[in-house]
Amino acid sequence: MNFDVEMRERVKDAERVITDYMPKNASLQKTVIEAMEYTMSAGGKRIRPVLMKAVYELFGGNASIIEPFMAAIEMIHTYSLIHDDLPALDNDDYRRGRKTAHIVYGEAMAILAGDSLLNYAYETASKAFSMISDELSTEEQLKQHIEVEQAIQILSKNPGIYGMIGGQVADVELTGTRLNEEQLTYIYENKTGALIEASMIIGAILAGASNSGIEKIRRIAYNIGMAFQIQDDILDETATFEELGKPIHSDAKNEKITYVTLYGIEQSKRKVEELSGDAVVMIRSIDGDSDFLVEFFNYLIDRKN
Ligand code: IPE
Ligand code: IPE
Ligand code: MG
Ligand code: MG
Ligand code: MG
Repeated sequence: MNFDVEMRERVKDAERVITDYMPKNASLQKTVIEAMEYTMSAGGKRIRPVLMKAVYELFGGNASIIEPFMAAIEMIHTYSLIHDDLPALDNDDYRRGRKTAHIVYGEAMAILAGDSLLNYAYETASKAFSMISDELSTEEQLKQHIEVEQAIQILSKNPGIYGMIGGQVADVELTGTRLNEEQLTYIYENKTGALIEASMIIGAILAGASNSGIEKIRRIAYNIGMAFQIQDDILDETATFEELGKPIHSDAKNEKITYVTLYGIEQSKRKVEELSGDAVVMIRSIDGDSDFLVEFFNYLIDRKN
């Protein structure tokens, strides 16, 4: 199948899953549910759930048990965006082509909507336990139970202080200092890499991949996460607001040192190509049909938003 068509179908599938798992009932907390829905439904590329399912399929996964995790990772990612845009952090007014949550609902509701998405992600992921079929053998049920537990461990750790939040903390605290490459690498592998790694590793775990398979995915995810953030920095300088759906020159406004300010656009582009190229070689070394993922990695190099 043509890549663009397949990508559109996979994004549509991710959208369906996300919609299925978003909260449906509301009473006095309805404003926060509206604010969650507002940012979740605005779109976004959905690369994390798409990556998760593609890696799950690469290792032979074909059940709906992946779905609560697809929704959960997008909820956690969206919470991170709502909080990242707050006046105390990047202070940005647009996200996914819409006014940011704090502009529309106020800061208090935006903070609470972020908190709610984070919490609801775990409420959602834990639904996977009840999706283990009792038609399986006792041994197979136990195996799946352990896989879901391991997936929830990754979903808990990677967004936290040893992952995404750790990266955001360093990003905030080191702003205005003369960052070195080691600090910049720490920021990127955590603020962005950790959720991309979680997406891919959870896909592998739930498909029952071997430890060596999971280790390969970890190395690939590292490259994709780094490349993704460097490309995000490039686009902050080179894309238009219409393409991105979020403000351009946000990094310059906040006086952030990025890969682009350290090394320039051309070297940054080469770095993205090198990281993604190595990821392509590594994914091809895994038994299974990696054609979509290879094209997906190439799309990430050329992405315009
Ligand atoms: C933006 O992520 C934040 C970064 C980690 C660079 P995305 O570029 O995946 O944002 P959406 O989900 O498409 O809006
Ligand atoms: C954010 O990095 C990573 C997150 C954890 C949200 P950026 O601050 O560069 O992301 P954008 O450019 O606002 O999407
Ligand atoms: Mg930021
Ligand atoms: Mg930002
Ligand atoms: Mg950015």
